[in-house]
Amino acid sequence: MLGNFSYHNPTKLYFGEDSLGFLKDELKNFGSNVLLVYGGGSIKKSGLYDEITAILKDSGKNVAEVSGVMPNPTVDKLREGVKIARESSADLILAVGGGSVCDYSKAVSVSVHCDDDPWEKYYIRFEEPDCEIVPVGCILTMAGTGSEMNGGAVITNHEKHLKIGHVFGDDVMPKFSILNPRYTMTLPKYQMVAGIYDIMNHICEQYFSGEDDNTSDYISEGLMRGLIRASRIAVKDPQDYEARSNIMWTATWALNTLVSRGKSTDWMVHMLGQSVGAYTDATHGMTLAAVSLPYYRYIMPYGLKKFARFATEVWGVSPEGRTDEQLAADGLSAMESWMKELGLVMKLSDLGATEDMIEGIADGTIILDGGYKVLDRDEIVKVLKASM
Ligand code: NZQ
Ligand code: ZN
Repeated sequence: MLGNFSYHNPTKLYFGEDSLGFLKDELKNFGSNVLLVYGGGSIKKSGLYDEITAILKDSGKNVAEVSGVMPNPTVDKLREGVKIARESSADLILAVGGGSVCDYSKAVSVSVHCDDDPWEKYYIRFEEPDCEIVPVGCILTMAGTGSEMNGGAVITNHEKHLKIGHVFGDDVMPKFSILNPRYTMTLPKYQMVAGIYDIMNHICEQYFSGEDDNTSDYISEGLMRGLIRASRIAVKDPQDYEARSNIMWTATWALNTLVSRGKSTDWMVHMLGQSVGAYTDATHGMTLAAVSLPYYRYIMPYGLKKFARFATEVWGVSPEGRTDEQLAADGLSAMESWMKELGLVMKLSDLGATEDMIEGIADGTIILDGGYKVLDRDEIVKVLKASM
């Protein structure tokens, strides 16, 4: 393991079926005004909304609400939430939902006490917050993004056709997150498998970089093997608590900064997927699934050894009599079969993307340089075309 780095993650986690019981204790650490943030209504249907509001009431909190946070939260919705947070003098933002609600709450938290326009400041100029940050706590209902234990906050601007993530520092990460795998059981299968692929791809984005013998890669391989196993169980029986529980915990560790230590990290599948999302508003994990194989097959020759190792260590391909080229191809074929087994969307055209969007999607794709091959714009277009 080469390189210099620090590691610190301030988010306190409560995991398991009894984890909501700790909310009462956590609430004591914050002031009396709570802004409750949630999505389009799944928490009302499941009864979680009633449970949480009862705990808030018992704890003597004044509660304001932002509801209707949509998947891929928008900048207009962000501005609405900032206004409500200001009017209610929020001391704590309590996010109840998936990555969209958690990301959104973080974006509100850095904007409440800031005069600048949040889109311009954080998503165009990429500045760091220089104002008071309202603390965020999460109660997670969907496993995938890792937003419960990281500083990521992805916001979509439909008018500008841009979907951009800002990864904030430690002081924006949730102060606490409550992870009860049982809450994820009401997810539609489409969302469950999209989340599973999001987890897999977060690990791949970090794994497919660097040449050194690196502890982070061994941790990643273990996480991937566990995820593949649990996903196969969950897709047959979504009510299997043990599998859903392993998926949820893997999601957190896939993107809480641990497995990126000592890695340059790639993240191009996400850059492509996000730009697709800006045009189609498609489910995040599905945008990744649709571009992944064309992208990985394109860069494979530049990172052959790692792709061969991916085949043997993650997918159990026997190296006997196989060249690195053959192994690398076998690994991606094994991943392709698994993706089809889960029922993932494998083509951008199935997500509403059309040929005439490709140039715009390419323009909106931020090109990063941490992976095995830095793509130029023509290569981005090639990968997108191959993903149709
Ligand atoms: O809005 P409700 O009614 O709650 O429905 C949601 C939503 O329609 C539903 N859902 C969530 N939990 C449920 C449930 N339905 C039934 N039962 C439950 N228990 O699922 C739908 C999708 O939810 P969403 O929060 O959008 O999904 P996800 O967790 O995948 O979050 C996606 C967002 O996170 C960003 C994505 O770009 C996207 O905007 N990401 C954030 C990252 C980060 N913070 O580091 C990294 C990721 O790569 C990703 O970019
Ligand atoms: Zn993701």
